[in-house]
Amino acid sequence: MRLLGIRALSKRFGGLQAVDGLTLALEEGEVLGLIGPNGAGKTTAFHLISGFLAPDAGEIHFRDRSLVGLRPHQVCHLGLTRTFQIARPFPHLSVLENVKVGAFARTASSREAAAKAGRALEEVGLLAKAGGRAGELTLAERKRLELARALATDPSLLLLDEVMAGLSAVETERIVELIRAINARGVSILLIEHVMRAVMSLSHRVAVLNYGQLIAEGPPAQVANAPNVIEAYLGEEYVGVS
Ligand SMILES: Nc1ncnc2c1ncn2[C@@H]1O[C@H](COP(=O)(O)OP(=O)(O)OP(=O)(O)O)[C@@H](O)[C@H]1O
Ligand SMILES: [Mg+2]
Repeated sequence: MRLLGIRALSKRFGGLQAVDGLTLALEEGEVLGLIGPNGAGKTTAFHLISGFLAPDAGEIHFRDRSLVGLRPHQVCHLGLTRTFQIARPFPHLSVLENVKVGAFARTASSREAAAKAGRALEEVGLLAKAGGRAGELTLAERKRLELARALATDPSLLLLDEVMAGLSAVETERIVELIRAINARGVSILLIEHVMRAVMSLSHRVAVLNYGQLIAEGPPAQVANAPNVIEAYLGEEYVGVS
C-alpha cells in the first residue's frame, strides 16, 4: 500500500528552483533512499513534506490525507516525523527531557511522555545518558538523540536527514543496524544520506535528485550503475556496486 505520494512538487527560492516537479511514492514498510549532490533540493523536499515550508505547487498525500497546508505538528500527529540535518537539541535540558519534547506530540501526560522517551532512548542505545545534559553529548550521541526525539512521536513514516554525517565507520555501521531494526518493526523510512555504502545497503529503492529534479529511481544496484547518476553524483568509484 502506498504510504506517501508526492506529485509535481515544486519550491522556488528567488531565482533558484530548489525542488522542480518532484513526483515520488513510498510504499508502506519501505526504506527509500534519497540521494543527490549538495544543493540538489533533498532537505527542501523534507521541509515541504513535513510542513516546515509551503510548496509553490504540487501535491503531498500521506495515506489518504493531503498534507499541503498542514503545520509541522499536524503532520507529525498523523504519524510522519522528520529529523533535522543539523541537530539542535536544547543543550541545557537533560537527554530525557529533550526526548520528552517529542513524546508530547502524542500525550499530554508528563509521566507517559517520560515513559515513551525512556523507551525511545533505550531503542537508540542512549538510556545510560538519559540524565545527562544534551549539550554534553558527542556528535554520534547527538545523532541518536535526534533519532530518539523522532521515535518518541510514534511515527509510521520517519524522514531521516543525514543521520550518519560525520560519524566514524563503526558508528555508521551501528546506525545502519539501528535503522534496519526500526524498519523491521514496521516503521517506513525515507532516508537522505551521502554515505553511499549505508544508503545502498539499507534502501529497498533509491531516488536521485539533481537540481531539484528526479533523475533516477529504482533498486540500489540499478541506480548505482545508471550512467546519468554516475555523471551527476556518484563518480566512477561506485561503478559496479551490486
Ligand atoms: N531558505 C532558503 N532560502 C534560499 N535558498 C535556499 C533556502 N533553503 C535552501 N536553499 C537553496 O536551495 C537549494 C537546495 O538546498 P537543499 O538544502 O534542499 O539541498 P540538499 O540537497 O539538502 O543539499 P545537501 O546535500 O548539501 O544537504 C540550495 O541551492 C540551497 O542553497
Ligand atoms: Mg540537505
